[in-house]
Amino acid sequence: MTITLQEITKANWQQVIKLKLADEQKNWVAPNWYSILEAHYEGGFARAIYADDTLVGFTYFGHDDDSGRWYIVRLMIGLEQQGKGYGRAALHEIINTMRQNPDCHEIYISFEPDNDVARHLYASIGFEDTGTIEDGEVVFRLPAK
Ligand SMILES: CC(C)(COP(=O)(O)OP(=O)(O)OC[C@H]1O[C@@H](n2cnc3c(N)ncnc32)[C@H](O)[C@@H]1OP(=O)(O)O)[C@@H](O)C(=O)NCCC(=O)NCCS
Repeated sequence: MTITLQEITKANWQQVIKLKLADEQKNWVAPNWYSILEAHYEGGFARAIYADDTLVGFTYFGHDDDSGRWYIVRLMIGLEQQGKGYGRAALHEIINTMRQNPDCHEIYISFEPDNDVARHLYASIGFEDTGTIEDGEVVFRLPAK
């Protein structure tokens, strides 16, 4: 199985906005349609996550000019595809893509304090707690070089 990050296009945008989450997960990540618009107007990279030829999730990442940080702003795997290792594999792919930017020395990610799956996943990859809370979210940081 190969995970790839692919552009949002005429061919896949409708499938991307139909990816589902469990009701209790909806507080943890903005709807994909919103994130696609946000990436369009704020800048950054909105990408569909594919496992081989199957669409499994969505991510949005980029440089935040205000803070000067590289952020993984959103990450979600569709409910029916969760728990199969796609989230972890996608995260590695996202990090490798971001690292190719010469000024990307650290990668930030944040999550709601009650999102234990996200906390466990990010910590297991090497993200460290910055000890700060921003907009109610726990902020983790990964050295990227
Ligand atoms: C967080 C998320 C991206 C992880 O993707 P995933 O494909 O389900 O995760 P993986 O299969 O790669 O598993 C990653 C780890 O999380 C654990 N995990 C995944 N789903 C879990 C669940 N429902 N309950 C408990 N643990 C879970 C796995 O056991 C694995 O840990 P391990 O390798 O130590 O066993 C996905 O669950 C998701 O989209 N959640 C809803 C949206 C969200 O919270 N996004 C993050 C916002 S910051």
